[in-house]
Amino acid sequence: MRGKGGPDGSKRRIVVTRKLPEAVEERLRAAFTVALNPDDKPFMPDRLVKAMQMADGLLCAVTDAVNSTVLHAEGRRRAEIVANFGVGVNNIDLDAAKAAGVIVGNTPDVLTDATADLAIALMLAATRRMSEAEALLRRGGWDGFRPTGLLGAGLQGRTLGIVGMGRIGQAVARRANRGFGMRVIYFNRSELGPFFDFAAVPLERVEDVMEQADIVSLHIPGGAETRGMISASVIDRMRPGAYLINTARGDVVDEEALVAALRHGRLAGAGLDVFRDEPRVPRDLLDLPGVTLLPHIGSATVETRTAMGMLAVDNLEAHFAGRELPARVV
Ligand code: 8YV
Repeated sequence: MRGKGGPDGSKRRIVVTRKLPEAVEERLRAAFTVALNPDDKPFMPDRLVKAMQMADGLLCAVTDAVNSTVLHAEGRRRAEIVANFGVGVNNIDLDAAKAAGVIVGNTPDVLTDATADLAIALMLAATRRMSEAEALLRRGGWDGFRPTGLLGAGLQGRTLGIVGMGRIGQAVARRANRGFGMRVIYFNRSELGPFFDFAAVPLERVEDVMEQADIVSLHIPGGAETRGMISASVIDRMRPGAYLINTARGDVVDEEALVAALRHGRLAGAGLDVFRDEPRVPRDLLDLPGVTLLPHIGSATVETRTAMGMLAVDNLEAHFAGRELPARVV
């Protein structure tokens, strides 16, 4: 039975796979019969299947592989809705969700600014060699100011290439163009109208962006369609001394090819918040000094993570009240 209330008029049951900000958990407790995860231990696959079998709704995160087995798990109930905590839904098999008749919601918009801010932070960190400089200082290797020490590259007047000009791509472009005086070029799979409140030039192919940009920032979704899109041959097209920034998904980049380009000095540096096989970070990347590595914190501000949780709950509440989800994917 879909819509309001549980089959027996009781509150709907929701399983939440990760610890969420307190205000979000409080709201969940008030609205639903909820199983929270106070220890924040990631669910193993069998626990996800069980959750799906005993709940009316699942509130999950990027760490949960909501695959076909999970989505088709038959049990006493079988969740009607998967509310993803995050805008990216590459952790969910959307075709299987459609086939199983499971609704999927996500959390767009509320994390745009936080993620764009972090992309800019990574651009600054990479071009100003911040990680390398801090590591030197922390290991006691700083012997004082030098006019020629740790010189990096400025952003003013440089060309930023955005790959994926969606909400976050646009927010990064705006900051770069209006705040830092950068020239912006971009590649987007579909054509976008000339409605930006900043200057940006569309290019036809991702390779064109690679050839012209001093810094490339990735903002494409993850998943089957974009897996390995930033391949060895695409990375090869980047300008010598360019930088790669990734706050999107790790699997869009050929990590081995990126390591090789950095190691051989073809690229000057990189700023990465996401990795192909999280939380595993390739040893080769850890060993490269000119790379800033962050543990997937693009949206990690108190206000953003709270807003994401609230939107996930909005999605659940809308579904069980028989209303359209504020942010529905399938
Ligand atoms: C989330 C993200 O924190 O929203 C996304 O797609 O990558 C992050 O902002 C993460 O997905 C949590 O599930």
